[in-house]
Amino acid sequence: MRDSLILGIETSCDETAAAVVTRAPDGRPLILSNVVFSQVEEHAAFGGVVPEIAARAHVEALDGIVGAALIEAGVAICDLAAVAATSGPGLVGALIVGAMTGKAIAAASGLPFLAVNHLEGHALTPRLTDGVAYPYLMLLASGGHTQLILVNGIGDYRRWGTTIDDALGEAFDKTAKLLGLPHPGGPNVERMAAAGDPARFLLPRPMRGEARLDFSFSGLKTAVRQAAEAAAPMRERHVADLCASFQLAAAESVADRVKRALARFRTEFPALVDPVLAVAGGVAANGAIRGKLKAECDRAGVRLVAPPLALCSDNAAMIAHAGLERFEAGLVDGLDAPVRPRWPL
Ligand code: KG4
Ligand code: ZN
Repeated sequence: MRDSLILGIETSCDETAAAVVTRAPDGRPLILSNVVFSQVEEHAAFGGVVPEIAARAHVEALDGIVGAALIEAGVAICDLAAVAATSGPGLVGALIVGAMTGKAIAAASGLPFLAVNHLEGHALTPRLTDGVAYPYLMLLASGGHTQLILVNGIGDYRRWGTTIDDALGEAFDKTAKLLGLPHPGGPNVERMAAAGDPARFLLPRPMRGEARLDFSFSGLKTAVRQAAEAAAPMRERHVADLCASFQLAAAESVADRVKRALARFRTEFPALVDPVLAVAGGVAANGAIRGKLKAECDRAGVRLVAPPLALCSDNAAMIAHAGLERFEAGLVDGLDAPVRPRWPL
């Protein structure tokens, strides 16, 4: 057994993933393998993730994915120090597949088990990719979550803001569906927006100027629907313009919230030598949003850390890495650790 070799398993939504992460002699975390099987095609016909299909697809794929991750890393189960599996939040059936598999491997090999919160995996990713030191500010924007989190230390997370209705990725996905674009919506909206005029439709910037750091996107989604109805029948040109207008409104809304959060961050931690805002979650892939965030960070004297896209969206390396940090901190779980479909950070 090697001290810091962790197998991570992720099955909270529609990605079946396994990875092996360790710590290099110089202290940096090291990804030895990171295998992700996306179920996107199995859900595409339904315009969204179908929980039952997701759980069954995880059952079919996971053993092979875990095997592939171990082979790619060049390690055997007996080399591992512990097994980490996402135990929430997420789809209950999907979570059970990953957590039970992780527990079975741990039980059969006498290894410790780590029940990792999926959001913690995302929140610690900038430490995996860029070695960012605590504390830092995190914008997590995915299909299920939109949160501003102060990451203060392992297990010490302060949620400064969250969405009061839809998640940002969800707003992208619903906009795509409304405009007849395929699932997943985010990348397709961004692709269409590239050819559109963002000034064509006047859409709201939800929460702009609000003192609290929360987000809201359902009003924007409704405004998109109303604009689409008013412009019907929609030609491709209209769709591109509406995508561009929506993306700009979403990006400016996020930038306004982040601007406030950065001001608070700078006030609460005036002595930080290298203040960092890190992004994670699939929406962090969006170029328009990244551009606005970079501008806000530059203005506030904060470094923007945007991990590579493969590590921003759902993957198991982030779960193995969160498991590694927890393991080193002695935060091991029992085999009776429950899966928690709802599990705030
Ligand atoms: O983190 P993620 O892979 O999965 C979870 O939701 O946990 O995020 C997926 C979300 C989807 O809503 C997807 O539409 C959105 O991220 N997304 C994007 C882009 N790429 C993915 N949204 C906007 N622009 C993109 N380029
Ligand atoms: Zn995620």
